Amino acid sequence: MSGPVLILGASGGIGSAVARCLSQSGRHVVLHGRNARALQELAATMPGPASVQTADLIDEQAVNELFARLTAEHGRLGGVVFSIAVPFRNKLTHRIAWPVFEEQLHTQLKALHLTAAASFPLLADGESVTRFVVVSTEFVLGAPPVKTAPYVAAKAAMTSYAQVISQEWLARGIRVHIVAPGLVKTALVADMPQEFLDQMADSMPEKRLTSVEDVAAMIEFLFTDAADPFYGTPLRVSRGVRK
Ligand SMILES: NC(=O)c1ccc[n+]([C@@H]2O[C@H](COP(=O)([O-])OP(=O)(O)OC[C@H]3O[C@@H](n4cnc5c(N)ncnc54)[C@H](OP(=O)(O)O)[C@@H]3O)[C@@H](O)[C@H]2O)c1
Repeated sequence: MSGPVLILGASGGIGSAVARCLSQSGRHVVLHGRNARALQELAATMPGPASVQTADLIDEQAVNELFARLTAEHGRLGGVVFSIAVPFRNKLTHRIAWPVFEEQLHTQLKALHLTAAASFPLLADGESVTRFVVVSTEFVLGAPPVKTAPYVAAKAAMTSYAQVISQEWLARGIRVHIVAPGLVKTALVADMPQEFLDQMADSMPEKRLTSVEDVAAMIEFLFTDAADPFYGTPLRVSRGVRK
């Protein structure tokens, strides 16, 4: 696989762990987020080559400009990891105003569509297998928890989208993978009280939450030939089992 791996949401908890893992395994990583200074600091901690790109992924023009820069600098990409999210407040569904759903749908489905469409020409060179990894959630597998409707609805939509393109892109040499992590302690869940997280960890079979390293290790695996048959299948990465 030639060309760097673009990590969308590399400034986040899961994205930064994925970047570190892929960098350690010798890949050139392009770190994306919205804060250039934070990304430069992160890039300095990477063991291998790392460059930085900023863009608001729900802004179509910003996405087009991002991919124009990537095309000019790299010509092609070896892979893309889509790992972005914005926090949401846990509320009963009938009490949630529509703009909250809209924000989640924009962050998950619109941003995924804009970036997937713009990534396609940089991934589909027909010479070698490239990979597009979508970070979903285990909430879309089985019964989701209450008070999460905007987030879960948006994640379900982006997961279905990824399953469709996984079939459309296969013939062009692009494997689309979907990972579905359990609850991970990152900025996304910073509003959850520590006591709740402790109780949750205590209720898990291994008495521990899923970690960013668990998710990163799975994504590192997905960048190997052994992962070829797993395209299009949501893969649970979780220290607990949701019924
Ligand atoms: N944490 C969990 O419990 C959990 C569980 C299952 C799945 N996931 C999924 O894992 C992925 C990563 O989540 P995380 O926990 O690592 O969250 P996080 O630490 O809050 O990171 C979120 C990332 O999304 C970026 N982002 C948000 N809105 C953006 C936008 N409009 N344009 C560009 N970048 C944007 C942020 O960039 P800035 O730094 O610029 O804000 C940041 O890099 C998400 O898809 C999430 O749904 C998380």
